[in-house]
Amino acid sequence: MKNRELIDKLNKEKHLSEAEWIQIFDTWDAYDLQYATRVANCIALERFGRKIYFRGIVEFTNICRNDCYYCGIRCSNSKVSRYRLDEEDILKCCADGYDHGFRTFVLQGGEDPYYTQEKMCGIVKRISEEYPDCAVTVSIGELSREYYQALYDAGARRYLLRHETADPEHYAMLHPKTQTLANRMRCLRDLKEIGFQTGCGIMIGTPHQTSRYLAEDMMFMTDFRPEMIGLGPFIPHHDTPFRDEPAGSVDLTLLVIALCRIMLPDALIPSTTALGTAEAEGRQKGVLAGCNVVMPNLSPLEVRKKYMLYDGKTGTDMSAETGIRVLREQMEAIGYEVVVARGDFQERK
Ligand code: 5AD
Repeated sequence: MKNRELIDKLNKEKHLSEAEWIQIFDTWDAYDLQYATRVANCIALERFGRKIYFRGIVEFTNICRNDCYYCGIRCSNSKVSRYRLDEEDILKCCADGYDHGFRTFVLQGGEDPYYTQEKMCGIVKRISEEYPDCAVTVSIGELSREYYQALYDAGARRYLLRHETADPEHYAMLHPKTQTLANRMRCLRDLKEIGFQTGCGIMIGTPHQTSRYLAEDMMFMTDFRPEMIGLGPFIPHHDTPFRDEPAGSVDLTLLVIALCRIMLPDALIPSTTALGTAEAEGRQKGVLAGCNVVMPNLSPLEVRKKYMLYDGKTGTDMSAETGIRVLREQMEAIGYEVVVARGDFQERK
């Protein structure tokens, strides 16, 4: 079957075999990409209209106990100037965000042991009580099931944890031995069972990634049915072991976005900062390939440059207000409007 026929088949049946996925990733061309993005964009337009959900991210700590080979804030990078925001700082970011119309706050950080279950739940509880009309999303890595449950009980309803790759061998090429795919998957399953709207996802073009690994990622997502999917190109960071590796392709990222939209029509898929960093018009292209979310940064300007997961990260030189305006203008330039709403995952029957 031709790739375009496989894309139609995916649209109809919502899954493909491993061999079919591998064929697409091995042999796609510019026309296949155009076809996939067109189908995906139609699906997104039909479900969401020309509306893009806004989520405000607060990057509240760049301290991390993990040592992922790709990430600029890995614990071995001694050149990073480390910071933590305290509860009042975080609440202040949310207050500013609320005034700008945000109804979802994403608390994202490294795996920083300082934020114990008790401390983190206290913060989540305060935000959910002060902003009962808002959704709290947490993204702080691998934790115990008990900790996840406590976050849920404190009012968090969404959790983002990219799986990074669904293949254990590939996972081991991106992480030290102490970090395992098995535990990451345990976390994702716990989150789903607890009732979180759960986000997984990958970088496109990480070192050693192959068509087979991408096929495994797609098949994992077929089964797992994430409510949210984070996808962006790998971008090297100069103080990591992957400093000399090539960046991931924007076009392949757009293809994966489009295929995810076709496979999971209801999913919330952000057009990520990494996509906007890899190419000036990357975020607009993401939306036209099926994304329906953008996540402006609400962190204080002073700490932005310290949350450098990769080189050149866009938006680190502008205030929250300017960042929001730029994103709004980018969306309006392609005929989309940014909406003020919680934008919960909704499954269409
Ligand atoms: N390039 C692109 N994305 C990265 N991330 C971490 N490091 C990089 C990089 N060098 C992504 C990972 C992680 C998310 C928070 O950021 O997928 O899950």
